[in-house]
Amino acid sequence: MKITILSLFPMMIEPFFKSSIMRRAVEKGIVSYRIIDFREFADDAYNRVDDIPYGGGAGMVLMPQPLSKALESVSARGKRVVYPTPSGRLFDQKKAYELAAEEELVFICGHYEGLDQRIIDEYVDDEISIGDYVLTSGETATLVIIDAVFRLIDGVIAKDSLEEESFSSCLLEYPQYTRPARYCSSCVPDVLLSGHHAHITEWRDDQRLARTMHVRPDLLSGASLSPRMRRKLIKVIEEKRTEDLENGHYQGN
Ligand code: ADE
Repeated sequence: MKITILSLFPMMIEPFFKSSIMRRAVEKGIVSYRIIDFREFADDAYNRVDDIPYGGGAGMVLMPQPLSKALESVSARGKRVVYPTPSGRLFDQKKAYELAAEEELVFICGHYEGLDQRIIDEYVDDEISIGDYVLTSGETATLVIIDAVFRLIDGVIAKDSLEEESFSSCLLEYPQYTRPARYCSSCVPDVLLSGHHAHITEWRDDQRLARTMHVRPDLLSGASLSPRMRRKLIKVIEEKRTEDLENGHYQGN
């Protein structure tokens, strides 16, 4: 995959491509990247890339000319252009898989009050928010998206790691333990030391279900559950309903 990033702060991005799993993906030729400082495409002697918003209001808006020149310099038309913004659609694993299927991605890192709308209308395919909060820079949001996407490309990480992890089945992951078996008077659950694979799988399924129900019940409607997990879920829901009734939580309904 080729990744192009238009940014005013390339030094925020460069280290990511030089570290850890991304570095290996670059070295293996699975990912290539270029970072374009679009300030270099500014029109005026002061290298200005932003200006006050028409109609008034706080903050500055990124001007269309430098960005459009930078986008044309990387032949962005016809490529998938992503603009991370708090006003975008919420990013999720499905979107990560969709973007991972592209040969090439172009990211525009916004700043201040964002881009002139004409750049969005002309070039942007996906406006993506990474969460309901506001960051100071589009660089961090861009890196979050790239991180979630590139690891899904064949050859970057082992396939079985992807299959087991949270969101690939709409269930959160089970807890993990490693040696030592006893640490500060706290022990690894016996079942994990038993060597009984069927019991370990059942225990892990139960943990995933319980964790998802507790932390992210909204995911359960899309979860792919084994018949055993489905029975377990129904049992837990019934137990919870009984408990709520006993505690009077449904009084007055
Ligand atoms: N830029 C600033 N905040 C953002 C967010 N939540 N998602 C994507 N881009 C952003």
